[in-house]
Amino acid sequence: MFETRVTRLFGIKYPIIGGCMMHVSKPEFVAAISNAGALGMMASAMYANQDEFRQGVRKVRDLTDKPFGANLSLFPALRPIDNNLYADVILQEHVPVVETSGHRPPEDLLARLKTGGVKTMHKCVSVRHALSAQKAGVDAVTVFGSEGGGHIGEIGLTTMTLVRRAVESLDVPVIAAGGIVDGRGLLAALALGADGITIGTRLLVTIECPIHENLKRALASATEVDTLPILGSLQNTVRAWKNAAALKVAELESQHAELSKILSVVAGTATKQMYEEGDLNAGVLPCSQSIGIVHEIRPVAEVVEEMMREATETLQSIGELS
Ligand SMILES: Cc1cc2nc3c(=O)[nH]c(=O)nc-3n(C[C@H](O)[C@H](O)[C@H](O)COP(=O)(O)O)c2cc1C
Repeated sequence: MFETRVTRLFGIKYPIIGGCMMHVSKPEFVAAISNAGALGMMASAMYANQDEFRQGVRKVRDLTDKPFGANLSLFPALRPIDNNLYADVILQEHVPVVETSGHRPPEDLLARLKTGGVKTMHKCVSVRHALSAQKAGVDAVTVFGSEGGGHIGEIGLTTMTLVRRAVESLDVPVIAAGGIVDGRGLLAALALGADGITIGTRLLVTIECPIHENLKRALASATEVDTLPILGSLQNTVRAWKNAAALKVAELESQHAELSKILSVVAGTATKQMYEEGDLNAGVLPCSQSIGIVHEIRPVAEVVEEMMREATETLQSIGELS
């Protein structure tokens, strides 16, 4: 059940992609997601150079024989990124899937990957960007609604509208992201016409997720009003968990503070330290509004199986109503 164009395209059991998460998508975690029947996604930007990225790819390969992917970030970054260097490794190591996110994927980069047999998808926040990615030649497009955790952009479209509009506008398969944490959300996305989903926040609250237990416990008891969009003043809006760091950023933005002050709070190093040491307020943590629906820390495989079971049962129970 639930075989779709996305499961066929990527050769995965379930129409679920584990969204790449900066500083979180370590090889063991990516492999756990792929082993659960979804598509694990590495975050290439986590790796300082080609050698480290190659070691990461090989580690994932050692831990799973299932398909996995690597994200190439096209977002503005403090550390300049040359995605062609990561693409070299992707091609040499035969990574089966690449996801780009951020600005429009460069056609020459896509052409290189496609010639090497890599399946490509692009993640974006509007139908206009989705059409542009389709034109550039991607095999699938992920549209990301503004209730989701991470770079939601400034357009502010929610998943319900964005997915439906993308489905009626695109020929390539559409993957829905933003606010999906359970089987009911999966089924809703499929009902809207999507061929799959990308989830991030739900996977943060799993046993295998390599963030500190303090954070997992805090997230499991957070509610749907415990996130806020920040960094809109830099045209780089991120939905984040409402901790002291995110509130500080919002305050600095409202005061039109100097860029350097804002950047010192949102620094990736602070987030990384928070993930490792568990100080709940040390940095900014991207997080979806749907965190309010996540109550338990569970193994990745259980989360994925439960999603599929709940989607199937919900579909049946809706059928029985009519
Ligand atoms: C902690 C965290 C870090 C993320 N980091 C990235 C990233 O580096 N690049 C990216 O394209 N998306 C990133 N995302 C977005 C996810 O890949 C995914 O698209 C999103 O989480 C889906 O929405 P959801 O959180 O409502 O499930 C991140 C999300 C979270 C929660």
